[in-house]
Amino acid sequence: MVLAVGCAKDEGPIFIPSPVTEPGEPIDTAYFSSEVLPIFTQHCWNCHPTMGGLDLGVTEAYTNLVNVTTTGYVPQLRIVPGDAAASVLWHKVSGSPSYGLTMPPNGTTLNAEDLQTIHDWIEQGALNN
Ligand code: HEC
Repeated sequence: MVLAVGCAKDEGPIFIPSPVTEPGEPIDTAYFSSEVLPIFTQHCWNCHPTMGGLDLGVTEAYTNLVNVTTTGYVPQLRIVPGDAAASVLWHKVSGSPSYGLTMPPNGTTLNAEDLQTIHDWIEQGALNN
């Protein structure tokens, strides 16, 4: 018997399924100020007033991320609105190979819910909402 085995080598280590939305059900909006920022404050800000040239403080995070060129992954952008796969921040938090350290690198990896929130927020246009 021959087994057809798909090549999963190039996929990231974390698979995040799309949320199941019933027809007619409103899409769950991810809000920057009330959902994404608290993740940065809790898990990132201790290193990211400065490290990587990136300030994730409450008043600085948005303008330091959206459509801003990275320090370490030039010419790629930190966040491309509507496109998580093109956003370096997404690769850093989801542990994509070839993007160096997974964020946060101090053993407190984000849980699936936090990752989903960040992913949804980027895919929904990375609004300052
Ligand atoms: C223990 C310290 C530490 C924590 C906590 C941390 N980072 Fe980092 N981060 C770094 C260092 C050091 C770099 C630079 C080296 C690199 O790019 O891997 C960096 C780089 C980055 C970069 C690339 C910046 C650029 O422009 O090149 C992003 C994006 C990032 N971190 C996001 C995050 C996020 C989001 C969190 C929280 C979920 C986080 N980091 C938590 C230390 C940390």
